[in-house]
Amino acid sequence: MNNAEYDPLAEDYYQSKFLPFRVFSEMPDHLELLGDLKGKSVLDVACGEGFYTRFIRSCGASICVGVDVSPEMIRLAKAKEFENPIGIQYEVASVTSMGEVISGGFDVVSTAFLFNCAQDQGELRGMFQEIYRTLKVGGRLCATVGDLGHRPTVDYSKYGMRTKIAEDLSEGAPYEITFLLPEGSFSITDYNHSLETYRMMSEEVGFQFEGLHPCSVTDAGIEKYGSEFWEQWLASPCIWRFSARKV
Ligand SMILES: C[S@@+](CC[C@H](N)C(=O)[O-])C[C@H]1O[C@@H](n2cnc3c(N)ncnc32)[C@H](O)[C@@H]1O
Repeated sequence: MNNAEYDPLAEDYYQSKFLPFRVFSEMPDHLELLGDLKGKSVLDVACGEGFYTRFIRSCGASICVGVDVSPEMIRLAKAKEFENPIGIQYEVASVTSMGEVISGGFDVVSTAFLFNCAQDQGELRGMFQEIYRTLKVGGRLCATVGDLGHRPTVDYSKYGMRTKIAEDLSEGAPYEITFLLPEGSFSITDYNHSLETYRMMSEEVGFQFEGLHPCSVTDAGIEKYGSEFWEQWLASPCIWRFSARKV
């Protein structure tokens, strides 16, 4: 991963967090996966500008640390912490080499859309290994991942995403996602890994895999946009969650 890849996208990426699929599906699903965080020490890996990190702290985490490889993402996160201090520590580091800034012993590692940034299985394994190291025994990895690479023909544009995905994309191959925002659009590159690869990698580094879940939609989302709007979202779920425990 090139450190600077997300630097020019930091503000736009934050704006994409207000798309309906994020508000009524991705975000509630990820917070539900994290469970009760009261009194827990939580590391948010690939925290971006701190979107989930702030939720994690406000849900009662006693220690809350965010790490991201993009200096601009962390600059934004720290600016928000400066404006409204809630006690989050942010560090610039790659997950694969965060040993210098992050020690171990966390109850929970939260991560959203990190694994889609791994350009091959070697990098993916390195991410899982480092996350495993930072958890205490009994601690949980809670991950949200994209699965668009396996859905090349589905049109997600009504949800605010346009994709450019080759059919029969191989493991690790790149694909493009364009977020369609009211003020314009921007694109990111993700890398294709199967849901089975995430399970396999978890187990390979020593985790006990706890399960994989497709995205859902909240009642508030159905009330606001109608069930027909969400039919395709739920029929071809491109966001999944899984958890794994350090044993
Ligand atoms: C799609 S964004 C998600 C940000 C945040 N988790 C969220 O959901 O709002 C992916 C983030 O992963 C970060 N990232 C990619 N590779 C990384 C790595 N090796 N170590 C740490 N962060 C990484 C990027 O800089 C970017 O901020």
